[in-house]
Amino acid sequence: MNIFSEIKQIQKFITQLKLKNQTIGFVPTMGALHQGHLSLVAQALANNDVAVVSVFVNPTQFDNAEDLKKYPRTLEKDADLLKTVSKDIIIYAPSVDAIYENNVIAQHFSFDGLEHEMEGRFRDGHFDGVGTIVKRLFEIITPDNAYFGEKDFQQLAIIKKLVEKYHIPVKITGCKIHRESNGLAMSSRNTRLKPAYQTAAPFIYKTLQTAKDKFGTKSANKVTEWVYNEFAKHELLKLEYFIIADVKTLKTVKRKSKTKNYRAFIAVYADDIRLIDNIALK
Ligand code: PAF
Repeated sequence: MNIFSEIKQIQKFITQLKLKNQTIGFVPTMGALHQGHLSLVAQALANNDVAVVSVFVNPTQFDNAEDLKKYPRTLEKDADLLKTVSKDIIIYAPSVDAIYENNVIAQHFSFDGLEHEMEGRFRDGHFDGVGTIVKRLFEIITPDNAYFGEKDFQQLAIIKKLVEKYHIPVKITGCKIHRESNGLAMSSRNTRLKPAYQTAAPFIYKTLQTAKDKFGTKSANKVTEWVYNEFAKHELLKLEYFIIADVKTLKTVKRKSKTKNYRAFIAVYADDIRLIDNIALK
């Protein structure tokens, strides 16, 4: 398995692949890989000659220093896990210095308002950090295709916008959310949940499923009110937001329209760990 940390080395390797007309499927990650990531990698391998996985905990997308400090860093374990998918996967694991040099700050972006909804309201500067690193990684790897999970649906929408605005020649594919058998959306953060919170956390997806059923007959406002009441009664989980939004604009739905597609989005604190999830409503 090839693991690169230097920009020059990976670029040299990629130039060789391109000379052989090989297509590159790219999966950007922050490591602490789980089955959800592996399914993105499997898709990248199925649709391209080569799969590149980046492992980089990007400091500029964290609005909370403690969260950045505690984010799991498990490169060796990640490499072992990737080997179970294929020995030919290429890992790119740069240092913060290699990516940012002496200037660990994010570029400022406008994503036509997508960045101000949901996560944007609660995580100051988060999408500037995501935009900065993903643009930088696309410049280094120059992939043909890139794969992102729908768990971070807003991030996926923003990356599609980034690629469109900066005319980056890469096709973005969104991949379905991978869940534990109890319904909890897979996330690198789940490993940090204390046992009581592990037991409690599947409540998030159960509530989303019921919200989906209710949305068939009730207004978005009524469903939202019901979800807030359910969480108000919960002893461990603290709801940060629940909204039902138009999948294109990510704006809260005021009045349902048959011609639009909606999703319900949720962010919840389980102790000090922030979990997000979403569900398609149509
Ligand atoms: O989704 C993630 O893991 C990160 O936001 C990403 C896309 C790898 C950028 O750091």
